[in-house]
Amino acid sequence: MSTAGGSNDRPTIAILGGTGSAGGGLALRWANAGYPIVIGSRNADKAAQICDRINAQVGRTAASHDSYRAAAARGMIVALTVPYAAQRSTVEEVRDALDGKILIDTTVPLVPPKVARVQLPEGGSAVAAIQALLGGSVKVVSAFQNVPAHLLQHLNHDVECDVLVCGDDIQARETVIKLATDIGLRALHAGPLANSAATEALTSVLISINSRYKVQGAGIRITGLETSAS
Ligand SMILES: NC(=O)c1ccc[n+]([C@@H]2O[C@H](COP(=O)([O-])OP(=O)(O)OC[C@H]3O[C@@H](n4cnc5c(N)ncnc54)[C@H](OP(=O)(O)O)[C@@H]3O)[C@@H](O)[C@H]2O)c1
Repeated sequence: MSTAGGSNDRPTIAILGGTGSAGGGLALRWANAGYPIVIGSRNADKAAQICDRINAQVGRTAASHDSYRAAAARGMIVALTVPYAAQRSTVEEVRDALDGKILIDTTVPLVPPKVARVQLPEGGSAVAAIQALLGGSVKVVSAFQNVPAHLLQHLNHDVECDVLVCGDDIQARETVIKLATDIGLRALHAGPLANSAATEALTSVLISINSRYKVQGAGIRITGLETSAS
């Protein structure tokens, strides 16, 4: 385990899989916004390098790392940013540490090689199975599926796409919306967790658009909102 210095009133966020593209981008952005970060990883050397890079970029010791299980225990809020194939096993590994917490699930149930085709799992969505596994003592919120990870990795890069936030607990959704807003994203209440089927599916649509138009960062923007939602 490594420890991060500095303290403020912001909750510690554990990011399981924070060594990867999506988790690393969120870790950098949240660290820059003042949140203490614990990167959960199976590989301490790799995680230490990511922490060093983040801390250098934000100019303070904001990020530390730990095993998945220990990171989940240290986080007041836990974000899950591992590939779909590892989603369930990772949650099973840390479930004892999640009681009473918010779990932010970013998982898109892509089925390689046809990642540009919507292939939702039985049960409707990837996150539905996780909420069923954990039960009501963990507030599972689905978010960030439609944000291209590479856009998060540059602090001076504005990310224009909206974050659709689904969850059955409105207060938990609100917390995740604030977390997104704090890193410069517009985030919207998108209804109950069941609606995550749409946001998870949308990612394959965006991958398809990226491919057809030879771009890398297709995203979505909701129109018809009079003011930016918060
Ligand atoms: N990439 C994007 O643009 C994007 C955008 C929105 C949402 N997402 C979602 O975010 C999640 C992570 O995506 P990503 O692109 O960041 O993935 P990634 O870079 O391939 O992997 C993220 C991390 O997951 C961990 N991991 C745990 N079990 C694994 C396994 N069996 N195989 C490979 N890695 C494993 C690894 O961390 P350790 O080795 O350190 O344990 C790895 O660094 C996915 O569910 C994806 O659908 C991705």
